[in-house]
Amino acid sequence: MADLRSFSNILVTGGAGFIGSNFIRYLFTDAGFSGRVVNLDALTYAGNPQNLADIAAQYKDRYIFVHGDIRDAALVQKLFADYAIDAVVHFAAESHVDRSILDPQSFITTNVMGTYTLLEAARQAWKGRYGDDAARVPGATGQLAGTSMLFHHISTDEVYGSLGEEGAFNETTAYDPRSPYSASKASSDFLVKAYGHTYGLPITISNCSNNYGPYQFPEKLIPLMILNMLEGKPLPVYGDGKNIRDWLYVVDHNAAVWTIMTRGRIGETYNIGGENEWENIRLLHRLIEIVSEETGKPVWQLEALVTYVKDRPGHDRRYAIDCSKLQNELGWKQSVSFDEGLRHTVRWYLDNPEWIASVRSGAYRSWIEKNYEHRTL
Ligand code: NAD
Ligand code: TYD
Repeated sequence: MADLRSFSNILVTGGAGFIGSNFIRYLFTDAGFSGRVVNLDALTYAGNPQNLADIAAQYKDRYIFVHGDIRDAALVQKLFADYAIDAVVHFAAESHVDRSILDPQSFITTNVMGTYTLLEAARQAWKGRYGDDAARVPGATGQLAGTSMLFHHISTDEVYGSLGEEGAFNETTAYDPRSPYSASKASSDFLVKAYGHTYGLPITISNCSNNYGPYQFPEKLIPLMILNMLEGKPLPVYGDGKNIRDWLYVVDHNAAVWTIMTRGRIGETYNIGGENEWENIRLLHRLIEIVSEETGKPVWQLEALVTYVKDRPGHDRRYAIDCSKLQNELGWKQSVSFDEGLRHTVRWYLDNPEWIASVRSGAYRSWIEKNYEHRTL
């Protein structure tokens, strides 16, 4: 299928984090993108500019890193003007559910207010170019003629709530967020939809399931478990370990995002998923086998580290994604099997001890020390 849009200057927010840095790498190495990337990132505990040190060196003229906050309206407006931004891919967020339970404030300010600040800057910067009036845009949804401008918002399947044993979320499932994190993401999704509907801002949204892969901060399940296994630390399983998540390799997520940006219909939401549901405990057993094969540590020794701990408050039971719209309409399919992706991820963490040391800043360690107790029985 031919691309409908191309871009010259893409503003990526949160491009020093896990998915955003993989996305920028994907743009330069896989997507055939020939324009310029401006990466705006506040470098919170989760942002690490080292993730893109090689890209920064190789693509000096086409990669610009800006250390700044999406809540800073003056800065964001200046970036649109200085770099003639014609597309935004908005990854920047506070992203960890456990942190949102302990301290929701930054989730509200970054995920909600930050998204609003970006939307408003895009509206002001692009106003003269697409018309500041939904009535003048050909359909609230549909193709926007004569422009390649786009605001793509990255969201999560968690906005849809929690499933029972059957069924999967599709794009028409009613929102039912249940954690401060998912509520803040749902709010931002609604703002993006409202800007599309009211002002005709050219937007697309994607809601993806759990990602895994290189450069993921070791607070999320898979990298946390890998690192704890390497260090002989307990492997904390929340509750009965039977909560279910759908897992997708990060590069497949980013390929889907690029597919939507270049070929998706304006105003539309697309679900992205791996059709790959795992109970947490079953996933942990599989990860133990792979770490054992890759390191020579005996399975029994790693299994002995498995520790059931107090459940996460409000812990969503099951997520599953129906991504048939993306598959059927835009022809996306995932390319990395779970076994391949997990093994590659384990090897990446084994091969990158400096990266691990660098993300283990004082701030991260003190957060874990301060908050670990709520997880323990
Ligand atoms: P992450 O926590 O690894 O990275 C977030 C990045 O945003 C960091 O680099 C951080 O410094 C930056 N950031 C935070 N606040 C900022 C601010 N105020 N201004 C500028 N930059 C700021 O997150 P991730 O896992 O890469 O997730 C990226 C996006 O994808 C998020 O919007 C998240 O909701 C969404 N998402 C994540 C997953 C997943 O499994 N990780 C799944 C679906 C959707
Ligand atoms: P996580 O990686 O935090 O992603 P999310 O909460 O956004 O789905 O958690 C994935 C699953 O693993 C979730 O059901 C919570 C569980 N979990 C544990 O059992 N132990 C842990 O130490 C962590 C971080 C998560």
